[in-house]
Amino acid sequence: MEQQQQNCQVLIAEESHYHFAETICLEMEESAKARGTGIAKRSPEYIREKMREGKAVIALSEDGQWAGFCYIETWSHGEYVANSGLIVSPKFRKGGLAKKIKKKIFALSRKKYPNAKLFGLTTGLAVMKINSELGYEPVTYSELTQDEAFWAGCKSCVNYEILMSKERKNCMCTAMLYDPEDHYEPEETTEFFKENAKGLERLIGFKQWKFLQPFLKKEKPAPGTKPAKSLISLFFNL
Ligand SMILES: CC(C)(COP(=O)(O)OP(=O)(O)OC[C@H]1O[C@@H](n2cnc3c(N)ncnc32)[C@H](O)[C@@H]1OP(=O)(O)O)[C@@H](O)C(=O)NCCC(=O)NCCS
Repeated sequence: MEQQQQNCQVLIAEESHYHFAETICLEMEESAKARGTGIAKRSPEYIREKMREGKAVIALSEDGQWAGFCYIETWSHGEYVANSGLIVSPKFRKGGLAKKIKKKIFALSRKKYPNAKLFGLTTGLAVMKINSELGYEPVTYSELTQDEAFWAGCKSCVNYEILMSKERKNCMCTAMLYDPEDHYEPEETTEFFKENAKGLERLIGFKQWKFLQPFLKKEKPAPGTKPAKSLISLFFNL
């Protein structure tokens, strides 16, 4: 695909952007399929609702093409905020656009919900990198919202069975959190990411291998015995 190096503007989405909703949804689904990962599916109506509420950010190219999108969701009565559905149109990737969009939606979230904890779930290293540069740190799922409605959103993800088999304590995604009351400085989390990027990448691969095992083979431990757990399994709730 031909990459387009245009100066995109990143705006708070509104009614004039409604007609992009179908394309955005389609691209979200296509990208998840291409990556072979799961996704909480969203309808065009849902995307339009976010635009109407002023809870979405859209990137447009100089010639008016849709280039990227992300939206805000609130959980546990506004105690938690997620910046979800980040997507950059393939022809505008690798030019720093996701970073710009995440910065904008982060600032919007902090303005709208100054006391909320911001969190995200992702399988992508790029998003982990961007989040780290904003001051997010990796956390266990127990530190996220326990709002049933949030976890219900995972039902449309191909990995939902894995999430439930882990009693919602772990899945393919890595959880990241920014707590306004208690957070590291972005310089510190950026440094942490730099030092641990290789390890995090290996962890993503390891999770995929480990979590898919029960779904790939039917062998069970002998009756009355439990499979041995390694130290790393215990540490990461695997
Ligand atoms: C992930 C995605 C949003 C990145 O968009 P993008 O505009 O290409 O990202 P950026 O150019 O802002 O890159 C941000 C950083 O991540 C890195 N990065 C980008 N894609 C990457 C990838 N596939 N793997 C590892 N790092 C990646 C970039 O090198 C950049 O780092 P740098 O600051 O050191 O240069 C885009 O590829 C996409 O829409 N993918 C499909 C949907 C998706 O995965 N969404 C996230 C769901 S949680």
